[in-house]
Amino acid sequence: MKEIIGNVVPGNALILISGVESKDGGTPDFDCGLAAQNMFIAATSLGLGARIYGGPAGAANAKREALQVPAGYKIVVILRVGNIDKSVDAVSAASTRKKADEIVNYRK
Ligand SMILES: Cc1cc2nc3c(=O)[nH]c(=O)nc-3n(C[C@H](O)[C@H](O)[C@H](O)COP(=O)(O)O)c2cc1C
Repeated sequence: MKEIIGNVVPGNALILISGVESKDGGTPDFDCGLAAQNMFIAATSLGLGARIYGGPAGAANAKREALQVPAGYKIVVILRVGNIDKSVDAVSAASTRKKADEIVNYRK
């Protein structure tokens, strides 16, 4: 899996979240996004680290046979779960947060 997500380390679990695109409709991208978010919240509430990956799903789909993804399923998103490296200061290592007024629009 290192060719899909470069910095995985032993002990990380990569969960490939996939859905079926059907001619009758359905919203696999949305559904898989919800599943990813729910599992992210569950993992972090258990004290684990988790990270959502959208970009590497394409590389994972290219290896779908090796990854034993059932026919007809498309990998939409990957969730990485593992123990948190407590030697890293998560506050200073995190991306800079934008202020609320930069990302929220109010209608007056
Ligand atoms: C839908 C979605 C797709 C994402 N895809 C990627 C990705 O492909 N690669 C990546 O490094 N981070 C990706 N992220 C971002 C990380 O999961 C993480 O949320 C982000 O880096 C913020 O973490 P930080 O504030 O600790 O830096 C994605 C996040 C979301 C919500």
